Amino acid sequence: MHKKRVIANWKMNGSQTEIVAMLSALQKDNKLLNQIEVSLCPPAVFLSSMKNLCASLPISWGAQNVSDQEDGALTGEISAKMLVEVGCRYALVGHSERRLYYGEDNEWVARKWLAARSKDLIPVLCVGESLAQREQGDTLSVVKEQLNAVLERTHSTQFAHTVIAYEPVWAIGTGLTPTQNEILEVHMALREHLVKQYDKALSQTVALLYGGSVKGENAAQLLNLENVDGGLIGGASLKYDTFAPILRALV
Ligand code: 13P
Repeated sequence: MHKKRVIANWKMNGSQTEIVAMLSALQKDNKLLNQIEVSLCPPAVFLSSMKNLCASLPISWGAQNVSDQEDGALTGEISAKMLVEVGCRYALVGHSERRLYYGEDNEWVARKWLAARSKDLIPVLCVGESLAQREQGDTLSVVKEQLNAVLERTHSTQFAHTVIAYEPVWAIGTGLTPTQNEILEVHMALREHLVKQYDKALSQTVALLYGGSVKGENAAQLLNLENVDGGLIGGASLKYDTFAPILRALV
């Protein structure tokens, strides 16, 4: 059994002051932090300060994006090696906002995944269907296709101990969430897909997170389901008062 994992995706929000405020508030929850693996993904400019800020806290940090290339004339990009240098544990890849607004397709996401993994970052592969895809009954085929793009390019030892986050696009930032059965169905399908691709032991090493409108009020129902190893939290992770209840719901 994994410890439950909660990854806070701050997206393009927050400031250095707000990161400090969040970490000092979390400091009093040290017992909680030892029971749950908590990670913070702030905007990239703040990553280099995390090592210092988290020195006395059992908290890891990660990037919201990573380049698929190692280095070169690629203005604005950040490589996996640079993220490792500032102590990142995770890199989100293929978040639906990147797919939607920045044109990242499955192949590009797979290259980012490989770039992250090759430098010992843990990729958090984000998958999820749009509302139209759900209404057409395509949810499982969409998420499997997103996953397959990575599976086709990797092998079992690389895929072990990574993270997949199921985030239905229509649930992100909307206050809407899937039913428990809908989450169970997708997470079970992802787990079974990994069993088929590799084997049961390997599939159990992969953490499957749910994300999309998770709040203190629904965290216990959404994140304590079978095959749900934790959550990827957006809006509610920005303030301690809305983030801490999610953590408390998991212990
Ligand atoms: P919200 O929790 O704001 O719905 O965002 C979820 C998300 O996109 C996390 O990556």
